[in-house]
Amino acid sequence: MTTSAPAGAARPIGIFDSGIGGLTVARAVAQRLPHERLVYFGDTAHLPYGEKSTAAIQAYAVKICDVLLRQHCKLILIACNSASAAAYELVREYVGSKAVVVGMIDPVVAHVGQQYAGRPVGLIGTKQTVGSNIYRKKIDQLDQGVDLHALATPLLIPMIEEGFFNGRVSEEIIRSYLDHPALQGIDALLLACTHFPLIKPEMEAYYQGRVTVLDPSDVVAATVAEQLATRQLLAPAIEVAPAHHFYVSDFTRSFEESTRIFFGQEVQLEHYPLWE
Ligand code: DGL
Repeated sequence: MTTSAPAGAARPIGIFDSGIGGLTVARAVAQRLPHERLVYFGDTAHLPYGEKSTAAIQAYAVKICDVLLRQHCKLILIACNSASAAAYELVREYVGSKAVVVGMIDPVVAHVGQQYAGRPVGLIGTKQTVGSNIYRKKIDQLDQGVDLHALATPLLIPMIEEGFFNGRVSEEIIRSYLDHPALQGIDALLLACTHFPLIKPEMEAYYQGRVTVLDPSDVVAATVAEQLATRQLLAPAIEVAPAHHFYVSDFTRSFEESTRIFFGQEVQLEHYPLWE
């Protein structure tokens, strides 16, 4: 998978996640920056990250960064909340000046600080993301009076992966989580897991306009665009569509079939084992 190095702006954007959930973020990036070539890495051999220790996620993240750096990525986007919670600082240190690093947390925290100062905001995510308390720490550092109410909602992830959404089963599970006392009295709900944009309409239906449901993908994609623009690293406009690559550390046909629900179109997954 080693390629000769293209210059600056022509280098691809690297995106990684524990699996294929991060394709919701890759999709937002591809829509905002249609000329950029994407190299996506889904660590399907080690998912779910939401149930892993910080040390394990950090070890996987470093390995994946090696792969993306060998592909000469100019920016590495950690399109996974659990990995951003566990490994963002380490990845930044590890990658150094070789690539820009963007995670899921800082762009969204800044957005919440601007839009919801002095107001109660809910957050749902994996056990790793919620247990790390990283959103609360960063939101508190802003000192904007945002009162964060966080709840781990792990069952939503396999539910979505198994295609149980927009139906009776998902409606019942979503209702039991959103009825939880921890999430009462909020003005907005932050979807701090890359799978959750797929059930945003169901959450909006539950709230009937009382609570704004925040999908961070567009905010994160906007940050990627800003970071590249600031460094004059935006890819030049081209007429042909860029040839993206989608790698997974463990290939199954079922992962490939599920790419459609996350990316909006089925994509071909290439097998790239992390440890050989
Ligand atoms: N992509 C992960 C996240 O955003 C959820 C899936 C997992 O637990 O690996 O936290």
